[in-house]
This record gives sequence, C-alpha cells and structure tokens, in this order.
Amino acid sequence: MQVLPFPSQVVYNRVGKCGSRTVVILLRLLAERHQFNLVSSDIHNKTRLTKHEQVDLMRNISNIPQPFLYTRHVHFLNFTRFRIEQPVYINIIRDPINRFLSNYFFRRFGDWRGEQNHLIRTPGMKGDERYLDINVCILENYPECSNPRLFYIIPYFCGQHPQCREPGVWALERAKQNVLENFLIVGILEELEDVLLLLERLLPHYFTDVLNIYKSPGLQEDGEHDWHGA
Ligand SMILES: *[C@@H]1O[C@H](CO)[C@@H](O)[C@H](O)[C@H]1NC(C)=O
Ligand SMILES: *[C@@H]1O[C@H](CO)[C@@H](O)[C@H](O)[C@H]1NC(C)=O
Ligand SMILES: *[C@@H]1O[C@H](CO)[C@@H](O)[C@H](O)[C@H]1NC(C)=O
Repeated sequence: MQVLPFPSQVVYNRVGKCGSRTVVILLRLLAERHQFNLVSSDIHNKTRLTKHEQVDLMRNISNIPQPFLYTRHVHFLNFTRFRIEQPVYINIIRDPINRFLSNYFFRRFGDWRGEQNHLIRTPGMKGDERYLDINVCILENYPECSNPRLFYIIPYFCGQHPQCREPGVWALERAKQNVLENFLIVGILEELEDVLLLLERLLPHYFTDVLNIYKSPGLQEDGEHDWHGA
C-alpha cells in the first residue's frame, strides 16, 4: 500500500455510540508518543451550527498548531466553502441497528464506567420509559424508535446544509460523494482492528503503534466494554 504524504491537519468528527470513546483514549496516548496536538471538544450535544458558528469553529480548528487532530461530535464542516484549507477527515461508524441498540440502552442505564450517566443523559426520564421494552418501543412506533433515527449518521458525512438532516436520497448521495472527496478513511467498528491497522498505514505520524496499544492488556479491557457501551 502506498503511504500518503503526511497530512498535518486531521479532523475526526466522531459519531456517537460508534466506539469513539475507545479511539479518544487511544488518541491521548498517541498524541503524547508522536507529539501531535490533540484537541478533543467536550461539547457532545451540538452537531449542527449556524453559519457564523461554523466559521468561528473552522477558524479555531485551523489555528491549532500543526500537526493536530481535532475531534468533536459535529456534522461535516465545509472549510473549502469558506476558503479555509480543508483538513483530512477520518471517522468510524457501525451497523446502524447495533448503534441504535447501544444508544437505547446507554440513554437508560449509562455505560460500564458506572458513572450513573443516565442521570446526566436523561434525568427527566420516568421509570416507565426507562424500563420500556425495546420491542414495545419499536412495534408500537414510539417516537424514539421510529425509523428516521437510523438516519442519524448521514449528516456527519453530508454536512451542515439543512437538507442533510432530511432523511432522503439527496442527503445520502451527498454524504457518499463527500466521503469519497474529503474522508481519508471511514472505518467500521465491527472491524476495528483492521481500521486501526489502516490508520497506522495511512497516517503513520499519528497512528504508528496504535494496534499494539489497543491490544495491550489494560486498554483491551476498556475497549471491550466500550465497544458495547459507547
Ligand atoms: C448541551 O449541554 C449543555 C451542558 O451539558 C447544556 O447547557 C446545553 O443546553 C445543551 N445544549 C443543547 C442544544 O442541548
Ligand atoms: C473559538 O475560540 C475562542 C477563543 O478561544 C472561543 O472563545 C470560542 O468559543 C471558540 N469558538 C468555537 C466555535 O469553538
Ligand atoms: C463544499 O463547498 C464547495 C464550495 O462551495 C462545494 O463545491 C462543495 O460541493 C461543498 N461540499 C460539501 C460536501 O458540501
């Protein structure tokens, strides 16, 4: 495989419940080892931005000293459109049904860290709803379980255009085109080890040794749990 020239601006616009927590743990270790600037936003609930906020954020990102890796739960930002140099994008997704299941239970019961995340995530949720059987939720068409939820992943690749959030062919086609044009790699969580290996080959200055780190005893345990939780 050909090793690409060294990109020094990387954005990982991580999709929730697709193993990103594991990847961020890995990135912290890698940033120290390979001396790149890791900026991990702690805003988890704002994926779409006004035009002004987009420009503000893109300026901030492009001002991080290179080499950098910026990561946040945010729909694709079109730097080119605002005449700012487009960074290399990477992402990891997973089977949408698995993602849906993971999210359903995470919202109710938190994750393996036992931080009682559910109290933070869904403090207003009543017992009835928290213990709602997922089959009932789906079969009886509760809003939380109705179809468009599975569309959630698309705008991360389609972008900030309002039509990107309307489930349909337009958004899907634009997302696919954009993946080809602007994403160096979009991995599948179900094949995480292969994804890490590819990252190691494609972005060696960031990811050399990532597979070893991932497989090291302490981390593997976290990773296993995280795989199901986040
Ligand atoms: C996001 O979370 C922050 C704090 O956790 C909260 O103040 C804010 O209202 C939330 N924003 C949205 C759009 O939900
Ligand atoms: C950009 O950086 C400035 C200064 O650090 C900060 O006040 C602002 O909130 C940032 N904007 C975004 C969208 O991150
Ligand atoms: C980004 O903006 C450029 C210039 O306006 C445009 O040609 C391109 O289609 C846009 N890409 C996406 C994915 O929005």
